[in-house]
Amino acid sequence: MSQEYPLYVILLGAPGAGKGTQALHISKTLGVAHVSSGDLFRAVRESDTELGRLVKSYYDKGALVPDDVTIRMILERLRQPDCVTGCLLDGFPRTMEQAQALDAALKPQAKRVDKVIYLHVSESELLRRLSGRWLCRNCGASYHTVSAPPKQEGACDLCGGALYQRPDDTLETAKSRLEVYFRQTLPLIDYYMQQGKLSQVNGGQSIEAVEHAMSGALRS
Ligand code: AP5
Ligand code: MG
Ligand code: ZN
Repeated sequence: MSQEYPLYVILLGAPGAGKGTQALHISKTLGVAHVSSGDLFRAVRESDTELGRLVKSYYDKGALVPDDVTIRMILERLRQPDCVTGCLLDGFPRTMEQAQALDAALKPQAKRVDKVIYLHVSESELLRRLSGRWLCRNCGASYHTVSAPPKQEGACDLCGGALYQRPDDTLETAKSRLEVYFRQTLPLIDYYMQQGKLSQVNGGQSIEAVEHAMSGALRS
């Protein structure tokens, strides 16, 4: 693990900002686990359990899963051995209550959120990205029909896995997710800015340029 990098890093940004796309690369650079609340919920959503049905009822509308369920799931994930020395959080926290619960959980272990990277992208670009997104069912890599197409239609460049579209990537649900983001998650920018932890990166650039800017922000 590189010593020059912080350990607990949050990727903050709207739906479609490029959190998942960048996380795959950045978590390797940092040498920490990638923890995506959305990925964890997508796995639960498919299970035929009470929790699966509860998650589905929020997820499919583009609404946030209740804080108590979300916080419990993430804190449990953070107790796994691969997160003991840090992790890259993607999609969590996204309410003030979640941010405070994370701080409260790290503090007794003499740990803290070291850095928050805020990926900023215009609303029109977010909607364009969400409606053209395809994901690899096997490794999670993301593609876009126009800006990042796979070499072979329907197959992942990295592992050959089958590509699929998320059920919440319809234009209508994507719009709801953006509204939820502006109302419930945007206040976190101030929360982390006041703590001097926030670095803003222009997420509207090419994937490579964003990657470069993020590496710079992580070293600062
Ligand atoms: P989640 O899975 O976290 O979705 P999200 O925040 O809505 O974000 P996305 O995954 O849609 O976007 P992204 O920023 O990862 O973009 P990506 O890299 O894929 O959450 C889903 C749901 O789970 C929520 O609605 C909620 O129900 C629940 N949930 C999750 N966390 C929760 C929490 N903490 N509390 C409560 N509920 C929670 O990129 C998007 C597209 O753009 C791709 O096609 C990609 O190829 C393309 N792209 C990426 N970067 C670029 C670029 N630089 N240029 C051009 N195209 C690009
Ligand atoms: Mg994502
Ligand atoms: Zn793949």
